[in-house]
Amino acid sequence: MATIHIDETRPLGTIAPEIYGHFSEHLGRCIYEGIFVKPDSGIPNVNGMRTDVVEALREIRVPVLRWPGGCFADEYHWKDGIGPLESRKRMVNTHWGGVVEDNSFGTHEFFELCRQLGCKTYVNGNVGSGTVQEMSEWVEYMTFDGVSPMAQLRAENGRREPWKVDYFGVGNENWGCGGNMTPTYYANLYRRYQTYVRQYHRDAPIQKICGGPNVDDVKWTKKVLKTCFAAPHPEDAHGFMDGLSLHYYVHPGGWKNKGSATVFTQEEWYATMEKALYMEELIRLHGAVMDKYDPEKKIGLIVDEWGAWYDVEPGTNPGFLYQQNTMRDALVAALTLNIFNSRCDRVKMACIAQMVNVLQAVLLTEGPRMVKTPTWHVFRMYRDHQGAKALPVEIEDAGTAGGLPMVQASASRMESGELTVTAANLSMTESRTVRLALANRKAEGASGTLLAGEAHAHNTFDEPKAVTERTLAAALEPDGGVSFTLPPCAVASVRLW
Ligand code: AHR
Repeated sequence: MATIHIDETRPLGTIAPEIYGHFSEHLGRCIYEGIFVKPDSGIPNVNGMRTDVVEALREIRVPVLRWPGGCFADEYHWKDGIGPLESRKRMVNTHWGGVVEDNSFGTHEFFELCRQLGCKTYVNGNVGSGTVQEMSEWVEYMTFDGVSPMAQLRAENGRREPWKVDYFGVGNENWGCGGNMTPTYYANLYRRYQTYVRQYHRDAPIQKICGGPNVDDVKWTKKVLKTCFAAPHPEDAHGFMDGLSLHYYVHPGGWKNKGSATVFTQEEWYATMEKALYMEELIRLHGAVMDKYDPEKKIGLIVDEWGAWYDVEPGTNPGFLYQQNTMRDALVAALTLNIFNSRCDRVKMACIAQMVNVLQAVLLTEGPRMVKTPTWHVFRMYRDHQGAKALPVEIEDAGTAGGLPMVQASASRMESGELTVTAANLSMTESRTVRLALANRKAEGASGTLLAGEAHAHNTFDEPKAVTERTLAAALEPDGGVSFTLPPCAVASVRLW
């Protein structure tokens, strides 16, 4: 039996709701078809946003949405995506599948989507192929309230009021698709570009995100911070940056041999789990460099691309990155989110890649049909962690599976005093009894939800509920502990009071 000890007396900090964020790129069928459809498509929508998709996303309380990329961001010229639809430029999406991008989803549509979702906005600017002026004008267009050329253009396009940009990314993967830059070169550009991300609303400043490392590239982190970290001035809470991004994808067989999303061996299962757990080490590695400059942890590590990346589904466009989503992905999400919760001292935002129809998507669509993936269920089961206080957990006798600790967990306390404990069993074959033990009090009640299934189980358009949440049998013990059984490949969410 595994015992999860939870200590309420030593909270680790607040779990930023943004840790449960999402990423949507102009890539494959993420934006077009997946989220945004032609009003006359026959698919129910509000101002082009699919009603089924928006409702499903509201249910998991999407806190923030990053857009328009990704690699697409460094090729995106925002003025192509404003104004009358018929005069918007048609261009080639050179990075993703070479398809026509008609720019029918642009700045106004993005803010409309976020309005419908009720989420914060994270806009990613173009450093790789865009100018400082272009970036600066975009910020002016979105946020300036007064007399200015961009505010006037916005009004001419039907929007008098400015929008709120919560986060602005200055470039994306500038070590790769965003311009193949060296860290020092990018860092100097970052200093320059971010200067013109003007703060027109001092009471609601834009949080600026600096382009960070790929996986374990600590050299990038060191050089970028050395060149462009500036401690916040006392009269201005913001220095040059509010966050540094990190991108990390789980490829079970490595970048060149990612493997199928639905057909995999036991060996590939455990390779996937091990790589998902590696996120903890990455936060430690980059966090240690950040600590040198920012010991008070004012700057967030922003893991704005994470998830499992497999071969595309057979017969689909290789540039569209469309993959199915099984219980294996539910475990990747559960392990990763548990790590983020426990490291909420440093991780202030994370965006799963990507929201719909691309990579580890929470939703898949096919024409008018939509399915919720096992990953969507994990986000639903974990939603009460958002904004709660993270609590330290220690796991005694976690057991082992594939050479890894079998049970992994995180816990938090809501303002109401109730606790949320999320626990995962990463064994492909063995179940494990789990006991929750509170350090300072006896639990008076418990209820829970379980997501479990055979490792390859997934939802399809014909069988959309093959994997779904069910009630967890959580037993309250006389000594105030709570016990339950975690079947193999399972995720549980338990509420304690
Ligand atoms: O999410 C797919 C791609 O992965 C993004 O466009 C890029 O930033 C990353 O390499």
